[in-house]
Amino acid sequence: MSQLAPGRPDQIAADLRAAFERRYAAPATVVGRAPGRVNLIGEHTDYNRGLVLPLALPHATYVAVAPRTDGRARFASLQDDATWEGTLAEAGPGGPTGWAAYAAGVLWALGEAGVEVPGVDVLVDGRVPLGAGLSSSAALECSVAVAMLALAGRDLDDATRRLAIDACIRAETEVAGAPTGGMDQTVAVLGEPGAALLVDFDTDETRPVPLALDGLTLLVTDTRVSHELTDGGYAARRADCEAAAAELGVPSLRQADLAAVERISDERVRARARHVVTETDRVLPVAEALTRGDRDAVAELFAASHASMRDDFEISCDELDAAVAVAVEAGAVGARMTGGGFGGSSVALVPDERVEAVMRAIDTEFALRGFAAPAHLVAVPSAGAGTL
Ligand code: GLA
Repeated sequence: MSQLAPGRPDQIAADLRAAFERRYAAPATVVGRAPGRVNLIGEHTDYNRGLVLPLALPHATYVAVAPRTDGRARFASLQDDATWEGTLAEAGPGGPTGWAAYAAGVLWALGEAGVEVPGVDVLVDGRVPLGAGLSSSAALECSVAVAMLALAGRDLDDATRRLAIDACIRAETEVAGAPTGGMDQTVAVLGEPGAALLVDFDTDETRPVPLALDGLTLLVTDTRVSHELTDGGYAARRADCEAAAAELGVPSLRQADLAAVERISDERVRARARHVVTETDRVLPVAEALTRGDRDAVAELFAASHASMRDDFEISCDELDAAVAVAVEAGAVGARMTGGGFGGSSVALVPDERVEAVMRAIDTEFALRGFAAPAHLVAVPSAGAGTL
């Protein structure tokens, strides 16, 4: 059974500073840290101006940075041999590719937002599993953003956090070209220990929701079916949602009701819109159930959410369906796929004493069905981005 530990932030930062000095022959000035996330409910609702309820993971991406005087930026990673080097102007759309687009793109976006961005050397240590639907890309963006804002002398107050979120969203959508909705960057910056974050994308309001997890563990299972949000599936879902809103004559599906959705002419577009409208309606009830510790309500809402993503939004896969079904059979209170879909992870709410049994049951089922061995991690609600 493989379970991924988050590591100790101070130790990771110290090791990264040492690696930075070996690579660039000068000490790092700041280490930025930003977490991955797991979403509890509200999938593909963010770009439809709906509600989401993610939490920040203890697993994070760390970046060590030091300013340079020549206005150039150099990016390297402990996980990947690819590097990127260029001027700040070259870090914008059409510039960096691969992981560097998410990292260097933030420099461009911060500059666009009026931040005095110096040239920099950057070394990345990503501890959020890649392609697992746990927002390693937002963790990378946000760790770069908080480190750069610290270099620019900005305190991480509410306004600066908002600026960081917006810059990271621009890097992801305009430089990396992933047409995502903003949930991941929002929670990577605003996540709080012990709480999930309720975000309303119609008003941009956020509220921490303290979780009554007494005796329960949030178990995340990475199916190892890797997903890419720059592939066409995510954009196609988004286009269907826009088509649905256009047919209904509303600015977004947040303003649509289920009765109107059921009259949409195209069957596929109708099903996509049904998912979005019913999913947003599940978010507040899940937040309330998790605050009260109401296990039955969570079980029912998670099951309905998973079925909606599988049947109406069509973003699940055999591995996710298996992880969810087996978790519940083995004693989880509830389980669902989480994140963008097309692979990635499931999240299950499991009584503490059943965690081992649930992990073992999923591993056994995956082996029987010839799937790659999954990886598990425990999602302890943790703090959002900051510097070390
Ligand atoms: C990805 C995107 C988010 C959101 C989720 C689905 O994580 O980055 O903006 O749309 O998928 O809920």
